[in-house]
Amino acid sequence: MLGNFTYCNPTKLYFGQDSLIGLKAELPKYGDNVVLIYGGGSIKKSGLYDEVMEILQACGKNVAEISGVMPNPTLEKLYEGVEIARAHKADFLLAVGGGSVCDYTKAVAVSVHCKEDPWEKYFQRFEEPECETLPLGCVLTLAGTGSEMNAGAVITNTKTKQKIGHVFADEKIMPRFAILNPLYTLSLPHYQMVAGIFDIFSHICEQYFSGTDDNTSDYIAEALMRSLLVSSRIANADPQDYEARSNIMWTATWALNTLIAKGKTTDWMVHMLGQSVGAYTNATHGMTLSAVSLAYYRHILAFGLAKFKRFALNVWDVNPEDKSDEEIALEGLKAMEGWMRELGLAMTISELGATEEMIEGIAEGTLVLKGGYKVLEREEIIKILKESL
Ligand code: NZQ
Ligand code: ZN
Repeated sequence: MLGNFTYCNPTKLYFGQDSLIGLKAELPKYGDNVVLIYGGGSIKKSGLYDEVMEILQACGKNVAEISGVMPNPTLEKLYEGVEIARAHKADFLLAVGGGSVCDYTKAVAVSVHCKEDPWEKYFQRFEEPECETLPLGCVLTLAGTGSEMNAGAVITNTKTKQKIGHVFADEKIMPRFAILNPLYTLSLPHYQMVAGIFDIFSHICEQYFSGTDDNTSDYIAEALMRSLLVSSRIANADPQDYEARSNIMWTATWALNTLIAKGKTTDWMVHMLGQSVGAYTNATHGMTLSAVSLAYYRHILAFGLAKFKRFALNVWDVNPEDKSDEEIALEGLKAMEGWMRELGLAMTISELGATEEMIEGIAEGTLVLKGGYKVLEREEIIKILKESL
């Protein structure tokens, strides 16, 4: 393991069909004024809203609500939520929903007592909060982002067409607890389920494709990918398979809770490209990633050939006999493409609503990060986006 690092993940997880019991155990630890935060109504339809409300009431909480948090939550919505939390003198924030709700809740948590504009401070200057922040918990309904056990929050500014994520350094921004009940994910539409699956896979790839040293994190990453391939195929054929859906949920959490980034520089360019596509199209996060991944990986393959070969051999079981390293690596990407098509993922950005005319703007909005095998030039970004059209 190269470099120096610290590892601390304070999120307490309650996993399984009975995990909502954890909410009863956790809520008494926090103040009485709770803001319940949720999305567009899936939790009302499933009955989860009623169950959570019953527990909040049984714990004697004084509850205000922020509802209608949209996928890819916007800055306008953040301002609205901050006002609600301030008016309620919130002591605790409870997110019930997918990654968007959980991310949004973190953004509210760092903004309620902040005197500055949260967009400028957290999503432009990437500063840490200096003010008091609110503790939060999460009841997760969609497996994908890993937001339930990390300090990341992604907010979209529709005016400037920027979708920006900030991973806060302070562990206080991570959920204090997360309830992971795979049963809650069974009501997801197939489109959201597979988008979440690809998001998980992409998170692992973003951390795997960097470095040339022998690193334990890479072996863990390969194991997570192999598990995901097995469970995603089962869930794709039968979305109601609890065992597969529970494995997917657990994999999602470990794919992005900081563990497999330890000792690594990490890449994240698929996410930077995908987020900018998302800012222009408001498309589902996982689909923006699938639509740009293959063009990006084919582009950088020569710069990280040894790792791409390892990916082909250890994740996709490519037979290396009589093949050059490049042929093996390319065959790995071919196998990945086959799996992606099997799941029915978006393979182009045009099917998500992106057009040739948007390419310049999407490239402009793509942050260039330096941890991967190749630091992209602007022309390379344009080329990758055009190939993804
Ligand atoms: O709003 P509701 O009605 O709840 O419907 C949601 C939404 O329409 C629906 N849904 C969620 N759970 C459901 C359900 N429908 C039926 N049954 C259920 N059990 O699914 C739709 C999508 O939900 P959303 O929360 O937007 O999806 P996801 O979990 O993929 O979150 C995406 C957001 O997370 C950010 C993305 O950029 C995007 O904004 N990310 C956060 C990360 C982090 N914190 O570390 C990392 C990721 O890379 C990602 O960038
Ligand atoms: Zn993601």
